[in-house]
Amino acid sequence: FNVPIAVNEPVKSYAPGTPERDEVLDAYNAMYKSKVDVPLYINGKDISTGNTRPLSPPHDHKHIVGQYHLAEKKHVELAISTALEARKTWSQLTWEQRAGIFLKAAELIAGPYRAKINAATMIAQSKTIHQAEIDAACELIDFLRFNVQFMTDIYMEQPESTSDAWNRVEYRPLEGFTYAVTPFNFTAIAGNLPACMALMGNVVVWKPSDSQIYSAKVIMDVFKEAGVPDGVINVVFGDPVMITNTVLSSPDFSGLHFTGSTFVFKELWKHIGENIHHYKTYPRIVGETGGKDFIIAHKTANPKQVATAISRGAFEFQGQKCSAASRAYIPKGIWNEVRTHLIEDINSFKMGSPEDMGNFITAVIHEGSFDKLAKYIDQAKEDSDTEIIAGGGYDKSKGYFIEPTVILTTNPKYTTMCTELFGPVITIYVYEDESFSETLKLVDETSEYALTGAILATDRHAIDEATKVLENSAGNFYINDKPTGAVVGQQPFGGARASGTNDKAGSAQNLMRWVSPRLIKETF
Ligand code: ALA
Repeated sequence: FNVPIAVNEPVKSYAPGTPERDEVLDAYNAMYKSKVDVPLYINGKDISTGNTRPLSPPHDHKHIVGQYHLAEKKHVELAISTALEARKTWSQLTWEQRAGIFLKAAELIAGPYRAKINAATMIAQSKTIHQAEIDAACELIDFLRFNVQFMTDIYMEQPESTSDAWNRVEYRPLEGFTYAVTPFNFTAIAGNLPACMALMGNVVVWKPSDSQIYSAKVIMDVFKEAGVPDGVINVVFGDPVMITNTVLSSPDFSGLHFTGSTFVFKELWKHIGENIHHYKTYPRIVGETGGKDFIIAHKTANPKQVATAISRGAFEFQGQKCSAASRAYIPKGIWNEVRTHLIEDINSFKMGSPEDMGNFITAVIHEGSFDKLAKYIDQAKEDSDTEIIAGGGYDKSKGYFIEPTVILTTNPKYTTMCTELFGPVITIYVYEDESFSETLKLVDETSEYALTGAILATDRHAIDEATKVLENSAGNFYINDKPTGAVVGQQPFGGARASGTNDKAGSAQNLMRWVSPRLIKETF
């Protein structure tokens, strides 16, 4: 298999005076002023339903940047029948033809679409330019490039043959159509979930998050320009219950690729189970869901490094990464130093709209998220076992702004030490230096989720002990680093327990879920 060697896309700096900074600001300003219309996209055609909802940036929620159209049941049914029709030719293409399309998509994003997809992500999801660049540009490009390499790794895996018996495996797409349900928080995940299934020869009905539609539209424009044939990826927006019920009622439903909340994923799984007798094949179910990601420091850790892991791990993109640190366990001996550095970091963070590139914190995704976070912050202000040592303020008059907030608690099982909040709030528990082993056990016992986690220590025994005790508490475990920022091709990403099926995004293991191998034995 002769494919281009996948290399990670270099992250651009967007420093003052760079051409990329001017380009992205121009794209942002132009998009901010215009009004985009986002119809459904079925069988290569835009379908306007007339039933529309406005699109607004979270950092300026009264400003309308466009509208999107809501699907009715008949549109979802059309997406399914169209996909099944497209499968007849798509599944018969050679792997090179499919690979070429998605490699071209990667190069379109790396080049002519880079400013646009970053600007769309800044507007739709209120990402700073740096957070948009590492997501919508670099991570999505990396997924598209590395998937081709993983695909060829899979196809190369063949059984032994003998002189009179030739054994070979065909990695066929799933029989039927697949369903991608994607989240608001990563444009890269939104693009990767449908793309990796399609790369393996599958056809897709894709439902993006309502809060990511503006950047989902750019992804679809890229796929179209790259040559994804009509009907292979069909996009529907609207009532998630109606869309899901329609998709899961089809006997041809054959796979779910999901990133979103634990609750919704479990509901979908239950629904699939209830319908199991209707399906022609057992559907594949892959999900990456919630997290309550931890940082534990040992007394030998470098306090400044611990503070940086917390401030970057908890507050980049307003803590809305599934990998974001949201609870930390710090030993008493280094706490005062960690606290000083952490407060310094937080005081240096500017909050505001993403087009002001000096801002580090912008708005959270929507009013529902804002209200929920404000409620937990208010509760922490009242409770006797907690103290807010940084932030605690919020304001939704223009955008959904929540200050980066640190709750200090004397109760290691306090609500915000255990409940996923998905916002710029971290809760810290300070433990006695000698209680490291007990604290590790506590972290594991309170890990209902198991997505990411980090140990910071210089003592090798402490690192080894944490790695062992926390073996099931995080699918991505970081030593002396923050728990966010997995890079495709370097740190395959995903977790178990309530965090998902752990079919690592950005790996051959994930792509294997989207093929149904046929073994052929031929004797001579
Ligand atoms: N891949 C993202 C991260 O690791 C979720 O932060």
